[in-house]
Amino acid sequence: MASLPKPISHVYSQHVFTDHWHNSFIISQNLSFSRHGSFKEMRIVRGSKQNEALADFNNQICDVPILSCSEAIERLKINRENWEGNQQFLAMYSSIFGGIITDPAAMVIPIDDHMVHRGHGVFDTAAIMDGHLYELDQHLDRIIRSASMSKIGLPFDRERIKKILIQTVSASKCRSGSLRYWLSVGPGDFQLSPSGCHRSALYAIVIQDQSPFSSKGIKVITSSVPIKPPQFATVKSVNYLPNVLSKMEAEESGAFAAIWLDNDGFIAEGPNMNVGFITKEMELLMPRFDKILSGCTAKRVLTLAEQMVREGKLSKIRVGNVTVEEGKKAEEMMLIGSGILVRPVLQWDEQLIGDGKEGPVAQALLDLIMEDMRSGPHTVRVPVPY
Ligand SMILES: Cc1ncc(COP(=O)(O)O)c(C=O)c1O
Repeated sequence: MASLPKPISHVYSQHVFTDHWHNSFIISQNLSFSRHGSFKEMRIVRGSKQNEALADFNNQICDVPILSCSEAIERLKINRENWEGNQQFLAMYSSIFGGIITDPAAMVIPIDDHMVHRGHGVFDTAAIMDGHLYELDQHLDRIIRSASMSKIGLPFDRERIKKILIQTVSASKCRSGSLRYWLSVGPGDFQLSPSGCHRSALYAIVIQDQSPFSSKGIKVITSSVPIKPPQFATVKSVNYLPNVLSKMEAEESGAFAAIWLDNDGFIAEGPNMNVGFITKEMELLMPRFDKILSGCTAKRVLTLAEQMVREGKLSKIRVGNVTVEEGKKAEEMMLIGSGILVRPVLQWDEQLIGDGKEGPVAQALLDLIMEDMRSGPHTVRVPVPY
């Protein structure tokens, strides 16, 4: 530093940075950081040793511009406009804003939120179908349970959270898509302890998604990524690293999902879905929920399947330990979750399931749940006032 030319004193004016990204490199050629971290203009002394030192020094400086708040927002907008995803974000609620926004550029959360830097947050979803929220109460019960297990206090009581979620969907005008929401211990500081986070936070987002639920059979593999211990697997927290790695492992081998086995070797669940089987004796068989996430869809399927038992299409329903051998020699296997509803599995590792084709029970259960979403009882369908 000492051998470098002295920076002249005035701070580089902000308006320079309103230029587009590609100009910022040019700008940085004439800038240095002052001791206090602000950019200052630098005199260029040509043909001297100092010039080489300056070049070296300049190489250390990145071309990152310093932005004003309005410039940052402008860039957020441009990023969003250039972003090509197959989902549209229609509305967001944030208890930090204390309101609902519909401009995706402003759909952000604070970096000091304990959920962001420590994974101390929980989340849940609910499908939006024909202007109704499907199983909102069941998902709300689960997020409140997850929050309690994560020692996250509620920012509002259950009724108010429910009303906020419904109002967010209403503001979005979305009639078909999904609602996702998070409870977090909130912003505060960057410590491990949440003691500096004074107000828990609620965030929610409405996502438009037109893609229909598919009944096409898929392949699964056994996950080599370790399953979360029951204390964490039963909580729907934002710690989904094992789930993400498990999904990636599946995709890398051309499969849809990877199935976890529990520590006793019994079949557990997929990274964001439960699993079910139809045995040769026409039983609907599902792993018990004590070491895995208690899936709202799987539980609803268990209830709706009772009708199939009454009609003689299933012999019985059993929830218990399921061995891999039992699973692989089942007549049918299916993945069950709110993102996929009921999806038949045709192959698990090298083993074809049944005759390797989509089976009638998986299709019947998918039809039942779709029907339930369209015209089920008020206990599973909450109307959204638009
Ligand atoms: C690990 C895990 N298991 C199961 C499920 C299925 O739960 P639900 O039917 O409530 O979507 C999910 C859903 O996200 C999940 O993340």
